Amino acid sequence: MTEPLLTEIDHVAIAVRDMDAAIEWYAQTLGARVAHRELVEHDGVEEALLAVGESYVQLVSPTRESSAVATFLATRGEGLHHVAYRVADCAEALEAVRRAGSRVVDEAPRRGSRGTMIAFVHPKSSFGTLVELVQEGLADGKVGAPPQ
Ligand code: CO
Repeated sequence: MTEPLLTEIDHVAIAVRDMDAAIEWYAQTLGARVAHRELVEHDGVEEALLAVGESYVQLVSPTRESSAVATFLATRGEGLHHVAYRVADCAEALEAVRRAGSRVVDEAPRRGSRGTMIAFVHPKSSFGTLVELVQEGLADGKVGAPPQ
């Protein structure tokens, strides 16, 4: 066994084809409002974060065909894309995952939206669901994360 690495669910990401339609559905049907919207050029995606308590639902939509999310939509359709967990230290958590023998997508933490540091664990290791490790509040984009 290992010490608990995950402090909270940061976001659950849902891949959608029509961002505006999805935002509208969450607002009209579930009363969930957009707290943050961002183009993440590096990943070729647009993100909309809907606040749910201290966590988010993240709607994610590709901005170019070469985006991994475009491939995901083409092969698997709309739906759950990844689950993101908050960790105290992304680099340490990533290293612990590798030490435990699991495959990772990112060899080192990189910048996510909202000034976070992120790294992905390979879904082949994590039972079919892409797992993201999120360290909040490293830059100015701190939103909704409780103090560590
Ligand atoms: Co994410």
